[in-house]
Amino acid sequence: MGDSVFEDWDELVTDFKELEVTNKTYLEKLEELETHQKKCLKHIEHQHYRISIIEKSLKDLKKHPEYKEKINELQEGIMKRKAHLYEIEQTLPKQNGIYLKIILGNVNVSILNKEAKFKYKDEYEKFKLVLSIIGFVMSLLNLSLKFRPLELSFIFLLVWYYCTLTIRESILKVNGSRIKGWWRLHHFLSTVAAGILLIWPDTLTWAQFRTQFMWFNSYISVVQYLQFRYQRGVLYRLKALGERHNMDITIEGFHSWMWRGLSFLLPFLFFGYMFQLYNAYVLYLLSYTPTSTWHVPVLSLMFFILFIGNTATTIMVIPDKVKEKVKLQYRFMSQRFSGNLITKEIEDNQPKKQE
Ligand code: COA
Repeated sequence: MGDSVFEDWDELVTDFKELEVTNKTYLEKLEELETHQKKCLKHIEHQHYRISIIEKSLKDLKKHPEYKEKINELQEGIMKRKAHLYEIEQTLPKQNGIYLKIILGNVNVSILNKEAKFKYKDEYEKFKLVLSIIGFVMSLLNLSLKFRPLELSFIFLLVWYYCTLTIRESILKVNGSRIKGWWRLHHFLSTVAAGILLIWPDTLTWAQFRTQFMWFNSYISVVQYLQFRYQRGVLYRLKALGERHNMDITIEGFHSWMWRGLSFLLPFLFFGYMFQLYNAYVLYLLSYTPTSTWHVPVLSLMFFILFIGNTATTIMVIPDKVKEKVKLQYRFMSQRFSGNLITKEIEDNQPKKQE
């Protein structure tokens, strides 16, 4: 009985030696990985640098019509190369932006695996959905009863929600999301607006705006649900497009689905923007009432800025979407056939054998 304890320990010592060897190999591989990452980053930098010089020279060459065909060919090659470089960049770690550095420090938030990236984005969309459902219920509760702590809890939830969105979106950006700067700024501004609402004293002016604000929030929650359905549809279809052996969906098919989704969503979005403008207008009128405080004109201005920014950005998305088809073609070409493309380019650069 007593001996078996010592035998167990000896066995464990042997197992531990095995663990040490495995760990040593793991650490060596990690170091190797880091060296490869650094090498890839250097190559990418070099590619971008030389592409920018070639693009500058192309601009001068455009004055000579005899080069027209060759220039077009080269420009197409550059577009394909940029799409390919973007795909390679997605597999490498990236530096955090200033905002993330301030709030998280210099921790690495790069997700290098495609499946994990997809999951993170999907989770972000689900997070927005859950919070908009909670927001919808809380707005309706606030519409049916006037209870200050409930009102404040709802507004506090809005502050927390928008603040969290700014962090999640910054992480998405580091991981290659093409989210437009305005939507991120929109969520920063919404955090500030919700903060001002939170400290707005319980005056008669607030009482006059309160019902309208709760209706506005319930409407926004419904729009967020519609946005969720559209964004999730885009996400899953783009994933299917990027899969090498998935031929169920084509870029044509994706585009026609996307236009149908957008034409359904856009009227709801524009109605929401009109609601924001109406909020700005009502707050502007309220700012002249005797119980008005500084919160009222500031919020009026903020709603107006949100109205302008949202309307302009959403209108600009439409022409962008028309151009997007070509970019998508290059993106998925380099994603689906990246292996083939590399070998094909190498082959193309080899001197041709005589038939
Ligand atoms: N919030 C967060 N992310 C957004 C976004 C938004 N409002 N709009 C677009 N994105 C993301 C997309 O998911 C995509 O991400 P990815 O690169 O990680 O795949 C990226 O930005 C590029 O999207 P883009 O191609 O420009 O647009 P889209 O087709 O995905 O969406 C709209 C277009 C107009 C439907 C979308 O921008 C939208 O819903 N805007 C309205 C937002 C709004 O006004 N909210 C307030 C309601 S009153």
